[in-house]
Amino acid sequence: MKVNVDEAHSLLYPRPVVLVSCVDSKGKRNIITLAWSMPVSFDPPMLAVSIGFRRESYRMIMESGEFVVNVPSSKLVSEVLLCGTISGRDFDKFKEAKLTAASARRVRAPIIAECLAHLECKVEKAIEAGDHMVFIGRVLEAYAEEDFAERKKEVLLYLGEEKFTTSL
Ligand SMILES: Cc1cc2nc3c(=O)[nH]c(=O)nc-3n(C[C@H](O)[C@H](O)[C@H](O)COP(=O)(O)O)c2cc1C
Repeated sequence: MKVNVDEAHSLLYPRPVVLVSCVDSKGKRNIITLAWSMPVSFDPPMLAVSIGFRRESYRMIMESGEFVVNVPSSKLVSEVLLCGTISGRDFDKFKEAKLTAASARRVRAPIIAECLAHLECKVEKAIEAGDHMVFIGRVLEAYAEEDFAERKKEVLLYLGEEKFTTSL
């Protein structure tokens, strides 16, 4: 099967989906759904998220230099889709998706209380990659629900378009 190079990324799906929360210098908060994220270093602990230049979250993370990666369960599939469809430029996604912004421990960006795990990050590097910016974040603090190990099967995997699965 030949695949158009423009669609080559879809051959790498399913991919875990995360909700990244952020804040700008005026205190405005936002959430973006991402399928393009990955760990990149053990020591120091670092991860990468790739965010399109046109996203409101791109502007906010460039401004604040921090973000939180939140791991949603399959129960949040409609919230994940909503946060990946509308823009923080026009909506307060915490309100629209009825998600709770709680204080993080080491960064100003809020965590999303309903998620299973949270990784608080400070931007160490921002690397342009075509139409996206790859933010390399150093993980300052990480924590999860006590039963996270047993609930890993609930973690949402993105299949492309509007389709998701889990490893259940
Ligand atoms: C499942 C899913 C995965 C997505 N993955 C990414 C991604 O990795 N990078 C990205 O820039 N946008 C991604 N998007 C699109 C953004 O989430 C979407 O454009 C969002 O509305 C941007 O919000 P903002 O303008 O408030 O930042 C994804 C959307 C969905 C539904």
